[in-house]
Amino acid sequence: MSTARRLLIRDLAQVVSPSGREAPLRGKALGELDLLEHAYVLCAGGTIEAVGRMADLPPLDGEIEELDGSELCAIPGLVDCHTHACFAGDRVEEFALRAAGAGYEELHAAGGGILATVRATRAAGEQALTEAVERHRGWLLHAGTTTFEAKSGYGLDRETELAQLRAIRAAGGIPTFLGAHAVPPEHADADAYLDFVLAEVLPEAALLAEAADVFLERGAFDAAQARRYLEACRDAGLALRLHGDQFTEAGAIALAIDLGARSVDHLEATGPDGVRTLAASRVAAVLLPASALFLGRPLPPARALVASGAAIALATDFNPGSAFCESLPLVASLAATQLRLAPAEALAACTVNAAHVLGRGDRLGRLAPGYAADITLLDAPDWRYLAYHLGGEVVAGVVKDGAALWRRRAY
Ligand code: NIG
Ligand code: FE
Repeated sequence: MSTARRLLIRDLAQVVSPSGREAPLRGKALGELDLLEHAYVLCAGGTIEAVGRMADLPPLDGEIEELDGSELCAIPGLVDCHTHACFAGDRVEEFALRAAGAGYEELHAAGGGILATVRATRAAGEQALTEAVERHRGWLLHAGTTTFEAKSGYGLDRETELAQLRAIRAAGGIPTFLGAHAVPPEHADADAYLDFVLAEVLPEAALLAEAADVFLERGAFDAAQARRYLEACRDAGLALRLHGDQFTEAGAIALAIDLGARSVDHLEATGPDGVRTLAASRVAAVLLPASALFLGRPLPPARALVASGAAIALATDFNPGSAFCESLPLVASLAATQLRLAPAEALAACTVNAAHVLGRGDRLGRLAPGYAADITLLDAPDWRYLAYHLGGEVVAGVVKDGAALWRRRAY
């Protein structure tokens, strides 16, 4: 018998998990859940040992910490597979300008937008960046997120890019090297910047990050430049992601498939051909409805992607410019109300499928024996309040690696 520290969450109103053990889930399987009422979750160390009905709870020996789960629902700890949580400063002025009619791309072209955050992030220093990611990690945790990815991309010089990746690691995030986010002003053009970043930053960034990402878009990097960057990152051992089809279809899907990328993220501009091509591939579609809404842009074709069999994930895109939003429950609400995903599809998209995008689909995103003991507790009689309670404080607490990390109330 295991001697690991054990935690029993008892008398839960519901315990809910995406069915099966496959990742990613597609099509009909995306909406299939295992739901137990009046149930328990037993954790041993950082792993789930058992899930079952209270009526079937066997006598347990040894020392066990107990949590009273009555009037709460347990879902897998939420996984945010796309954030830019390492930044300094804010873009509230730009937000107000956009509210008055200024365009996001227009602000970027005028040296604002992403480049405004680059200036603030370069000036901040590593200590302040680490504190910023830790603060944002707290916000994410309060919104029920137990695992988060975060990207660099606001340094765009050697020192700050590496400092961002170290800060993300120090705060417990999964780091992605977004060395090709924008072209900083000290370089003549995108190609000259890529010469620099691939020679001077990638070798060390590849030791800190798990994946690389690129902003393939007019005004940022074109498909040939994105290919050059991603091939070099792949050769350095990184998994590949792309920001693609946010404003225009500029070849991101074809490139992602050709290079065996894990995901294309955004897809607000993707048309029917792109949907079909992506759905027939192994590349996941990461949908960011908070970002589309925050910029007043069209929403991604989520229903068509699911109907065609694509592997979809949902994420916040948390960042100071295009999505100042750390809440996956809010994203789940947007998915249900705006993208027409069923609550069960939204749940799988921000748990097991998001875990798959991070290369952790066998360990995260389910409440089943052998998976990580990462659990989000909802202050609700029915787990669907996750999406139903629009902007509500639905998260009662989280368990991470079998330890209660934060509780909104005593339970
Ligand atoms: O995913 N589109 C590119 N990058 C981010 C926005 C970053 C920013 O505006 O600071 C995004 O939306
Ligand atoms: Fe993003």
